[in-house]
Amino acid sequence: MDFKDSIRVIPDFPQPGISFKDITTLLQNGPAYKKAIDEMKELVSSLKIDVIAGPEARGFVIGAPLAYALGVGFVPIRKSGKLPYETIEVGYDLEYGKDTLAMHTDAIKKGQNVLIADDLLATGGTISTSVNLVNQLGGNVVGAAFLIELTALNGRAKLPGIEVFTMLTYE
Ligand code: PRP
Repeated sequence: MDFKDSIRVIPDFPQPGISFKDITTLLQNGPAYKKAIDEMKELVSSLKIDVIAGPEARGFVIGAPLAYALGVGFVPIRKSGKLPYETIEVGYDLEYGKDTLAMHTDAIKKGQNVLIADDLLATGGTISTSVNLVNQLGGNVVGAAFLIELTALNGRAKLPGIEVFTMLTYE
């Protein structure tokens, strides 16, 4: 299956010059969604993972089913102001804009092996911030897994020393 056939590309969204990779068309296709998660599970099969952390919102639709498939827990990384308990927060720059990500202070136990999962690696700002949060909580980031990598933005450069797994690449 060529997953790219299931992903809709929208030019100039959310602003001119951005070619948006719309994964909703993959998610609404049951066999394609299942195969994508199954293949991501294979991609990370060499890792010892205790828990998956995924950033809001599209990181949830990749990270949570992957956690279920692996039989490990899932921890949400959320935008500021959404989590009800005590949090740590880190600000970051997006491909288009700025934001702040937060995690519950008890989301990760010290020394746990954490896989960070998201739909897309673009500039790497979201994932490097997620790595920062997990590290602050004492987690050991064993890898970062993505459905899509936009290679021209070189997000990997923001993840030194972290093993990066991607299913699909776009220039
Ligand atoms: C998108 C995407 C990734 C991130 C990638 O999320 O789902 O999390 O941007 O970009 P980066 O590598 O340049 O940081 P967004 O912040 O738009 O949030 P959403 O999933 O809630 O739409």
